[in-house]
Amino acid sequence: MAVYQATTSAPVNIACIKYWGKRDTKLILPTNSSLSVTLDQDHLRSTTTSRADPSFSKDRLWLNGKEEEIKEGGRTATCIKEMKSLRKQVEDANPNEPKLSTYPVHICSRNNFPTAAGLASSAAGFAALVSSLAALYALPASPSQLSLISRQGSGSACRSLFGGFVAWEMGTAADGSDSYAVEVAPQSHWPEIHALICVVSDDKKGTSSTAGMQRTVETSPLLQHRIKHVVPERMKAIKEAILAKDFDTFAKITMQDSNQFHAVALDTDPPIFYMNDVSRAIIALIVEYNRLSVENGGKVKAAYTYDAGPNAVIYTPKENLKEIIPLILKYFPQAEKYNDHLGLFGTASVDGA
Ligand code: PMV
Repeated sequence: MAVYQATTSAPVNIACIKYWGKRDTKLILPTNSSLSVTLDQDHLRSTTTSRADPSFSKDRLWLNGKEEEIKEGGRTATCIKEMKSLRKQVEDANPNEPKLSTYPVHICSRNNFPTAAGLASSAAGFAALVSSLAALYALPASPSQLSLISRQGSGSACRSLFGGFVAWEMGTAADGSDSYAVEVAPQSHWPEIHALICVVSDDKKGTSSTAGMQRTVETSPLLQHRIKHVVPERMKAIKEAILAKDFDTFAKITMQDSNQFHAVALDTDPPIFYMNDVSRAIIALIVEYNRLSVENGGKVKAAYTYDAGPNAVIYTPKENLKEIIPLILKYFPQAEKYNDHLGLFGTASVDGA
Protein backbone atom coordinates (compact mmCIF):
# COMPACT_ATOMS: atom_id res chain seq x y z
CA MET A 1 0.00 0.00 0.00
CA ALA A 2 1.20 3.51 -0.77
CA VAL A 3 2.59 5.58 2.09
CA TYR A 4 1.58 9.23 2.07
CA GLN A 5 4.14 11.12 4.09
CA ALA A 6 6.24 14.30 3.73
CA THR A 7 8.89 16.02 5.84
CA THR A 8 9.90 19.68 5.50
CA SER A 9 11.68 22.29 7.61
CA ALA A 10 11.02 25.96 8.15
CA PRO A 11 13.41 28.40 9.80
CA VAL A 12 12.72 31.06 12.38
CA ASN A 13 12.26 34.64 11.21
CA ILE A 14 13.11 37.68 13.29
CA ALA A 15 11.23 40.91 12.63
CA CYS A 16 12.89 44.26 12.00
CA ILE A 17 9.50 45.99 11.84
CA LYS A 18 7.45 44.28 14.53
CA TYR A 19 3.96 42.87 14.24
CA TRP A 20 2.16 43.64 17.49
CA GLY A 21 -1.63 43.86 17.57
CA LYS A 22 -4.51 42.07 15.84
CA ARG A 23 -7.52 43.69 14.22
CA ASP A 24 -9.16 40.26 13.86
CA THR A 25 -8.18 37.67 16.44
CA LYS A 26 -9.77 34.66 14.72
CA LEU A 27 -8.32 35.26 11.24
CA ILE A 28 -5.14 36.76 12.76
CA LEU A 29 -5.19 40.01 10.83
CA PRO A 30 -2.60 42.51 12.08
CA THR A 31 -2.98 46.17 12.96
CA ASN A 32 0.21 46.95 10.99
CA SER A 33 2.42 45.49 8.29
CA SER A 34 5.75 43.97 9.36
CA LEU A 35 9.07 42.92 7.88
CA SER A 36 11.55 40.26 8.90
CA VAL A 37 14.67 38.35 8.01
CA THR A 38 14.35 34.58 7.79
CA LEU A 39 17.36 32.87 9.34
CA ASP A 40 19.04 30.09 7.45
CA GLN A 41 18.07 26.45 7.87
CA ASP A 42 21.23 25.42 9.74
CA HIS A 43 20.45 26.92 13.13
CA LEU A 44 16.94 27.58 14.38
CA ARG A 45 14.28 25.59 12.61
CA SER A 46 11.25 23.34 12.98
CA THR A 47 11.16 20.07 11.09
CA THR A 48 7.76 18.52 10.56
CA THR A 49 6.60 15.19 9.19
CA SER A 50 2.98 14.76 8.15
CA ARG A 51 1.43 11.45 7.31
CA ALA A 52 -2.05 10.73 5.97
CA ASP A 53 -3.52 7.28 6.48
CA PRO A 54 -7.11 6.04 6.24
CA SER A 55 -6.48 3.73 9.22
CA PHE A 56 -5.79 6.65 11.59
CA SER A 57 -8.77 7.42 13.81
CA LYS A 58 -8.22 11.21 14.04
CA ASP A 59 -5.77 14.05 13.39
CA ARG A 60 -2.98 14.05 15.98
CA LEU A 61 0.03 16.27 16.70
CA TRP A 62 3.32 15.68 18.54
CA LEU A 63 5.57 18.62 19.46
CA ASN A 64 9.12 17.72 20.46
CA GLY A 65 7.99 14.17 21.18
CA LYS A 66 4.99 15.09 23.35
CA GLU A 67 1.45 14.77 22.08
CA GLU A 68 -0.49 18.06 22.06
CA GLU A 69 -4.25 18.25 21.94
CA ILE A 70 -5.64 19.61 18.66
CA LYS A 71 -8.45 21.78 20.00
CA GLU A 72 -11.54 21.99 17.84
CA GLY A 73 -11.69 25.38 16.16
CA GLY A 74 -8.19 26.16 17.44
CA ARG A 75 -5.26 27.37 15.34
CA THR A 76 -3.76 23.99 14.50
CA ALA A 77 -7.19 22.60 13.61
CA THR A 78 -7.83 25.65 11.38
CA CYS A 79 -4.54 25.19 9.50
CA ILE A 80 -5.19 21.46 8.97
CA LYS A 81 -8.76 22.15 7.82
CA GLU A 82 -7.65 24.85 5.35
CA MET A 83 -4.93 22.59 3.95
CA LYS A 84 -7.38 19.71 3.54
CA SER A 85 -9.75 21.97 1.65
CA LEU A 86 -6.94 23.00 -0.75
CA ARG A 87 -6.22 19.29 -1.25
CA LYS A 88 -9.92 18.68 -1.92
CA GLN A 89 -9.76 21.20 -4.79
CA VAL A 90 -6.88 19.21 -6.32
CA GLU A 91 -8.88 15.98 -5.96
CA ASP A 92 -12.03 17.54 -7.46
CA ALA A 93 -10.03 18.74 -10.46
CA ASN A 94 -8.30 15.40 -10.87
CA PRO A 95 -10.49 12.40 -9.95
CA ASN A 96 -7.54 9.95 -10.18
CA GLU A 97 -5.83 11.55 -7.19
CA PRO A 98 -6.07 9.56 -3.93
CA LYS A 99 -8.60 11.14 -1.56
CA LEU A 100 -6.01 12.26 1.00
CA SER A 101 -8.28 15.10 2.10
CA THR A 102 -10.54 12.49 3.73
CA TYR A 103 -7.71 10.72 5.63
CA PRO A 104 -6.76 11.77 9.17
CA VAL A 105 -3.18 13.08 9.52
CA HIS A 106 -0.49 12.50 12.10
CA ILE A 107 1.90 15.43 12.42
CA CYS A 108 5.20 15.26 14.24
CA SER A 109 7.21 18.45 14.74
CA ARG A 110 10.55 19.11 16.38
CA ASN A 111 12.38 22.38 17.12
CA ASN A 112 16.15 22.41 17.38
CA PHE A 113 15.96 25.31 19.89
CA PRO A 114 13.95 26.22 23.03
CA THR A 115 10.21 26.56 22.46
CA ALA A 116 8.35 29.75 23.46
CA ALA A 117 11.41 31.63 24.70
CA GLY A 118 10.93 34.60 22.42
CA LEU A 119 12.83 32.85 19.63
CA ALA A 120 9.85 32.78 17.29
CA SER A 121 9.27 29.06 17.73
CA SER A 122 5.62 29.36 16.71
CA ALA A 123 6.62 31.07 13.46
CA ALA A 124 8.87 28.21 12.41
CA GLY A 125 6.42 25.64 13.81
CA PHE A 126 3.32 26.71 11.88
CA ALA A 127 5.31 27.43 8.70
CA ALA A 128 6.77 23.90 8.83
CA LEU A 129 3.34 22.38 9.57
CA VAL A 130 1.75 24.12 6.58
CA SER A 131 4.66 23.41 4.23
CA SER A 132 4.79 19.72 5.20
CA LEU A 133 1.04 19.37 4.52
CA ALA A 134 1.51 21.23 1.22
CA ALA A 135 4.20 18.70 0.27
CA LEU A 136 2.10 15.74 1.46
CA TYR A 137 -0.88 16.97 -0.57
CA ALA A 138 1.28 17.96 -3.58
CA LEU A 139 -0.42 21.36 -3.65
CA PRO A 140 0.41 23.75 -6.47
CA ALA A 141 0.17 26.70 -4.01
CA SER A 142 2.76 29.52 -3.94
CA PRO A 143 4.49 30.51 -0.68
CA SER A 144 2.27 33.64 -0.52
CA GLN A 145 -0.88 31.48 -0.81
CA LEU A 146 0.41 29.15 1.90
CA SER A 147 1.24 32.16 4.04
CA LEU A 148 -2.49 32.98 4.18
CA ILE A 149 -2.91 29.68 6.03
CA SER A 150 0.18 29.68 8.26
CA ARG A 151 -0.85 33.22 9.30
CA GLN A 152 -3.90 31.66 10.94
CA GLY A 153 -1.61 29.45 13.03
CA SER A 154 0.62 32.26 14.26
CA GLY A 155 0.77 35.65 12.55
CA SER A 156 4.54 35.79 12.24
CA ALA A 157 4.52 32.24 10.73
CA CYS A 158 3.37 33.67 7.41
CA ARG A 159 6.81 35.25 6.98
CA SER A 160 8.76 31.98 7.50
CA LEU A 161 7.51 30.57 4.19
CA PHE A 162 10.09 32.70 2.40
CA GLY A 163 13.82 32.93 2.93
CA GLY A 164 15.66 36.26 3.02
CA PHE A 165 13.89 39.57 3.57
CA VAL A 166 10.13 39.21 3.86
CA ALA A 167 7.21 41.60 4.30
CA TRP A 168 3.82 40.70 5.70
CA GLU A 169 1.44 43.18 4.08
CA MET A 170 -1.40 43.76 6.54
CA GLY A 171 -4.09 44.09 3.81
CA THR A 172 -7.50 45.68 4.23
CA ALA A 173 -9.98 42.91 3.31
CA ALA A 174 -12.21 41.72 6.16
CA ASP A 175 -11.76 38.08 5.09
CA GLY A 176 -7.95 38.34 5.25
CA SER A 177 -7.47 37.44 1.60
CA ASP A 178 -4.90 40.23 1.08
CA SER A 179 -2.99 39.74 4.35
CA TYR A 180 -0.05 37.61 3.28
CA ALA A 181 3.73 37.48 3.04
CA VAL A 182 5.79 38.59 0.06
CA GLU A 183 9.49 38.39 -0.65
CA VAL A 184 11.27 41.74 -0.52
CA ALA A 185 14.63 40.25 -1.52
CA PRO A 186 16.10 36.75 -1.37
CA GLN A 187 18.94 36.06 1.04
CA SER A 188 21.33 35.92 -1.96
CA HIS A 189 20.62 39.62 -2.56
CA TRP A 190 22.44 40.58 0.65
CA PRO A 191 24.26 37.49 1.96
CA GLU A 192 26.68 39.61 4.03
CA ILE A 193 23.98 40.18 6.67
CA HIS A 194 24.30 37.74 9.53
CA ALA A 195 22.31 37.34 12.72
CA LEU A 196 23.97 36.68 16.04
CA ILE A 197 21.48 35.22 18.52
CA CYS A 198 22.30 35.90 22.15
CA VAL A 199 20.29 33.52 24.31
CA VAL A 200 19.84 35.54 27.49
CA SER A 201 17.31 33.12 28.90
CA ASP A 202 15.59 30.07 27.48
CA ASP A 203 12.77 30.10 30.04
CA LYS A 204 9.23 30.19 28.68
CA LYS A 205 8.10 33.81 28.34
CA GLY A 206 5.83 35.37 30.97
CA THR A 207 3.15 36.97 28.78
CA SER A 208 2.29 35.14 25.56
CA SER A 209 2.22 37.24 22.40
CA THR A 210 -1.51 36.57 22.02
CA ALA A 211 -2.39 37.81 25.52
CA GLY A 212 0.12 40.67 25.32
CA MET A 213 -1.13 41.94 21.96
CA GLN A 214 -4.72 41.89 23.07
CA ARG A 215 -3.93 43.92 26.17
CA THR A 216 -1.87 46.39 24.13
CA VAL A 217 -4.64 46.86 21.54
CA GLU A 218 -7.14 47.50 24.33
CA THR A 219 -5.06 49.88 26.43
CA SER A 220 -2.10 51.51 24.65
CA PRO A 221 -2.52 54.98 23.10
CA LEU A 222 1.06 54.71 21.79
CA LEU A 223 0.07 51.68 19.69
CA GLN A 224 -2.50 53.81 17.82
CA HIS A 225 0.17 56.40 17.02
CA ARG A 226 2.56 53.66 15.90
CA ILE A 227 0.01 52.04 13.58
CA LYS A 228 -1.04 55.28 11.88
CA HIS A 229 2.02 57.46 11.89
CA VAL A 230 5.13 55.33 12.26
CA VAL A 231 4.99 51.89 10.67
CA PRO A 232 3.82 52.82 7.13
CA GLU A 233 6.83 55.09 6.60
CA ARG A 234 9.23 52.67 8.24
CA MET A 235 8.05 49.81 6.00
CA LYS A 236 8.74 51.91 2.92
CA ALA A 237 12.13 53.13 4.15
CA ILE A 238 13.41 49.72 5.27
CA LYS A 239 12.41 48.07 1.98
CA GLU A 240 14.37 50.75 0.13
CA ALA A 241 17.34 50.25 2.46
CA ILE A 242 17.29 46.47 1.83
CA LEU A 243 17.10 46.89 -1.94
CA ALA A 244 19.95 49.44 -1.81
CA LYS A 245 21.94 47.28 0.70
CA ASP A 246 22.13 50.36 2.91
CA PHE A 247 23.04 48.80 6.27
CA ASP A 248 23.21 52.12 8.10
CA THR A 249 19.51 52.87 7.43
CA PHE A 250 18.45 49.23 7.84
CA ALA A 251 20.13 49.10 11.25
CA LYS A 252 18.74 52.42 12.52
CA ILE A 253 15.16 51.49 11.57
CA THR A 254 15.53 48.00 13.06
CA MET A 255 16.72 49.37 16.42
CA GLN A 256 14.09 52.14 16.48
CA ASP A 257 11.36 49.65 15.79
CA SER A 258 12.52 47.23 18.48
CA ASN A 259 12.61 50.16 20.90
CA GLN A 260 9.10 51.26 19.95
CA PHE A 261 7.70 47.74 20.24
CA HIS A 262 9.05 47.49 23.80
CA ALA A 263 7.79 51.03 24.54
CA VAL A 264 4.32 49.93 23.39
CA ALA A 265 4.59 46.89 25.68
CA LEU A 266 5.45 49.25 28.55
CA ASP A 267 2.55 51.54 27.54
CA THR A 268 0.18 48.60 27.99
CA ASP A 269 -1.93 48.51 31.15
CA PRO A 270 -0.78 46.61 33.18
CA PRO A 271 2.68 47.01 31.58
CA ILE A 272 4.55 44.15 29.94
CA PHE A 273 8.32 43.76 30.29
CA TYR A 274 9.99 41.43 27.87
CA MET A 275 13.60 42.57 28.22
CA ASN A 276 15.69 42.12 31.35
CA ASP A 277 18.91 43.75 32.65
CA VAL A 278 21.12 41.60 30.43
CA SER A 279 19.01 42.56 27.38
CA ARG A 280 19.44 46.23 28.23
CA ALA A 281 23.18 45.80 28.80
CA ILE A 282 23.53 44.29 25.32
CA ILE A 283 21.69 47.32 23.89
CA ALA A 284 24.14 49.62 25.69
CA LEU A 285 27.07 47.66 24.26
CA ILE A 286 25.80 47.86 20.68
CA VAL A 287 24.96 51.57 21.05
CA GLU A 288 28.49 52.24 22.27
CA TYR A 289 30.04 50.06 19.54
CA ASN A 290 28.14 52.03 16.90
CA ARG A 291 28.91 55.38 18.52
CA LEU A 292 32.67 54.71 18.41
CA SER A 293 32.43 53.68 14.76
CA VAL A 294 30.45 56.78 13.76
CA GLU A 295 32.74 59.07 15.80
CA ASN A 296 35.69 57.71 13.87
CA GLY A 297 34.02 58.56 10.57
CA GLY A 298 32.54 55.08 10.06
CA LYS A 299 28.98 53.82 9.85
CA VAL A 300 26.54 52.01 12.08
CA LYS A 301 27.89 48.45 12.28
CA ALA A 302 25.28 46.43 14.14
CA ALA A 303 21.57 46.46 14.94
CA TYR A 304 19.96 44.83 17.96
CA THR A 305 16.37 43.68 18.02
CA TYR A 306 14.24 41.93 20.66
CA ASP A 307 10.96 40.06 20.28
CA ALA A 308 8.59 39.08 23.07
CA GLY A 309 11.40 37.84 25.29
CA PRO A 310 14.83 38.87 26.62
CA ASN A 311 16.99 37.31 23.88
CA ALA A 312 18.94 39.61 21.59
CA VAL A 313 19.30 39.20 17.87
CA ILE A 314 22.13 41.26 16.45
CA TYR A 315 22.11 41.89 12.72
CA THR A 316 25.47 42.82 11.28
CA PRO A 317 27.55 42.43 8.12
CA LYS A 318 29.64 39.29 8.55
CA GLU A 319 32.97 41.17 8.71
CA ASN A 320 31.94 42.72 12.07
CA LEU A 321 31.27 39.40 13.82
CA LYS A 322 34.96 39.05 14.60
CA GLU A 323 34.70 42.24 16.68
CA ILE A 324 31.23 41.73 18.15
CA ILE A 325 31.65 38.17 19.44
CA PRO A 326 34.80 39.00 21.46
CA LEU A 327 33.03 42.13 22.78
CA ILE A 328 30.06 40.07 23.98
CA LEU A 329 32.41 37.51 25.51
CA LYS A 330 34.38 40.26 27.24
CA TYR A 331 31.39 42.01 28.82
CA PHE A 332 29.43 38.84 29.51
CA PRO A 333 32.17 36.51 30.72
CA GLN A 334 29.58 33.87 31.66
CA ALA A 335 28.73 33.61 27.99
CA GLU A 336 29.76 30.45 26.28
CA LYS A 337 30.04 30.55 22.58
CA TYR A 338 28.40 27.22 21.93
CA ASN A 339 28.45 27.45 18.22
CA ASP A 340 31.90 27.77 16.78
CA HIS A 341 30.66 27.79 13.27
CA LEU A 342 29.56 31.36 12.87
CA GLY A 343 28.84 30.84 9.23
CA LEU A 344 25.58 32.40 8.34
CA PHE A 345 23.83 32.73 11.63
CA GLY A 346 25.72 32.14 14.82
CA THR A 347 24.43 31.60 18.31
CA ALA A 348 26.01 32.73 21.54
CA SER A 349 24.57 31.93 24.92
CA VAL A 350 24.71 34.95 27.23
CA ASP A 351 22.96 33.42 30.20
CA GLY A 352 23.75 34.64 33.66
CA ALA A 353 21.08 37.31 34.16
O1 PMV B 1 3.15 35.50 15.65
P1 PMV B 1 3.22 35.71 17.12
O2 PMV B 1 1.87 35.68 17.75
O3 PMV B 1 4.19 34.78 17.79
O4 PMV B 1 3.76 37.20 17.40
C1 PMV B 1 5.05 37.63 17.10
C2 PMV B 1 5.31 38.96 17.67
C3 PMV B 1 6.76 39.44 17.61
O5 PMV B 1 7.65 38.36 17.51
C4 PMV B 1 7.08 40.20 18.88
C5 PMV B 1 6.98 40.41 16.44
C6 PMV B 1 7.07 39.81 15.07
O6 PMV B 1 6.71 40.53 14.12
O7 PMV B 1 7.53 38.67 14.91
